[in-house]
Amino acid sequence: MKYSIQHNSQTALSDSLAVGIFEQDTLSPSALNIDQLTGGYLTQLIATGELTGAEGKIITLRNVPNLNVKHLFVVGCGKAGELSESAFKQLLAKLAEVAKENQATSLMNTLTEVALKDRDLYWNVRFTIEAMEAGQYRFEQFKSKKSPAKICLSEVKFLVNEAQSALAQQAIDHAGAIALGVKLAKDVANCPPNVCTPTYLAQQAEALAQRSSLIKTTIVDEQKMTELGMHAYLAVSRGSHNEAKMSIIEYRNHPNPDAKPIVLVGKGLTFDAGGISLKPADSMDEMKYDMCGAAAVYGVMNALAELQLPLNVIGVLAGCENLPDGNAYRPGDILNTMNGLTIEVLNTDAEGRLVLCDALTYVERFNPEAVIDIATLTGACVVALGQHNSGLISTNEALTNGLQQASQQSADKIWRLPLSEEYQEQLKSNFADLANIGGRWGGAITAGAFLSNFTKKYPWAHLDIAGTAWLQGANKGATGRPVALLTQFLINSVE
Ligand code: BES
Ligand code: MN
Ligand code: ZN
Repeated sequence: MKYSIQHNSQTALSDSLAVGIFEQDTLSPSALNIDQLTGGYLTQLIATGELTGAEGKIITLRNVPNLNVKHLFVVGCGKAGELSESAFKQLLAKLAEVAKENQATSLMNTLTEVALKDRDLYWNVRFTIEAMEAGQYRFEQFKSKKSPAKICLSEVKFLVNEAQSALAQQAIDHAGAIALGVKLAKDVANCPPNVCTPTYLAQQAEALAQRSSLIKTTIVDEQKMTELGMHAYLAVSRGSHNEAKMSIIEYRNHPNPDAKPIVLVGKGLTFDAGGISLKPADSMDEMKYDMCGAAAVYGVMNALAELQLPLNVIGVLAGCENLPDGNAYRPGDILNTMNGLTIEVLNTDAEGRLVLCDALTYVERFNPEAVIDIATLTGACVVALGQHNSGLISTNEALTNGLQQASQQSADKIWRLPLSEEYQEQLKSNFADLANIGGRWGGAITAGAFLSNFTKKYPWAHLDIAGTAWLQGANKGATGRPVALLTQFLINSVE
């Protein structure tokens, strides 16, 4: 879809126009304008009760006198100035549906005037585009019969005054890059695990370097991991015939080439059966989504290249597969990690932290400004926070503040969990330096506590996206979270 800015609604060459109406029948500025132009047409409809500001109600008017558009969509926006981000996004999804029912091909959208609570024009434009793009998403690569497009709009114009053009254009650019990053993350995450293997992930990482001259990708394969002593990562992979591959995606565009990079490490378990500590069969298919951390990093790296932000950023896709097998690692095994600590495996289903601990040691070589790992790490995080907030664990206040700010801005929610040294007690082993599980209580936190043993050389934050990375049930599918949050964090990181 094409998005552009227009300064005057009268010159709109769109076949449809959307305006807002609020509860108690107040009209948005553009709606007022139309009311005057049409000799009080909207006011009359309000008087007869046909038009109301009820949130989510959209009335389509055709052949409106003196109005040079085929369809006028009057969108009920509830109480003026009180629209939440999620309600706004739902409104736009509905508007896209109504536009389709009317076969509208271009839309002049003035809903940016309805002003989300505490949000300026930039955010109204950004969320509009993010919502409209998400609304169009389908994953039908593997269906023999494709369904018709969800939308037939090909162009959306925003009515913006000249003074705000630059801001609106920036919102269009940012939203486009984020929406594409979200789509790419969803595509790779929804891909079935017999296709999306660690090698497939590595190919996507290499394709990024083909598309952008600012990106260089290298692959660390099992042989290289062996040389590096990454035996925890390798142990998880041993039960699978699909070779583990860790993709290193280097994006360098900082004016100072030696500027320390921000490093993003994504858990990339292309399937997690649990290994010898096998998971129950119920919903096991969803463990193809155990690579959503890597998918998000991939989407963010693409967004970075689109926006050409002046930063140095390194994305790591820690690809691996966890299966039971005659050669699989076992409960009781003791593993040597790359940083020298030994780990007693007590449950082979706590594999994410074993892959990540070596990946987190590997990235020390980049002398990072900060490292953020993104992982579908624990069911316990979903129990604690549900499916709306990703879990944040960090020992660094500046990094925590930065992520919380980006989360609030992008409406990609996170909630911090505590991490203090007491939790390390739960990870004690009789036979090795650390156990890989911490018992029944605080499972999301003990997973973070485990990782913190491997992140002492740099500021670090951990995002547990087990509850937010995909939806279950009738709408089963990847969400593309937290691409928006991380891209926002990087946008904010530009000095
Ligand atoms: N990938 C899972 C976590 C997960 C489970 C995410 C369900 C989303 C939904 C992870 O590898 C895992 O299996 N974690 C175990 C840890 C436990 C053995 C300490 C878990 O959460 O049950
Ligand atoms: Mn697991
Ligand atoms: Zn897992």
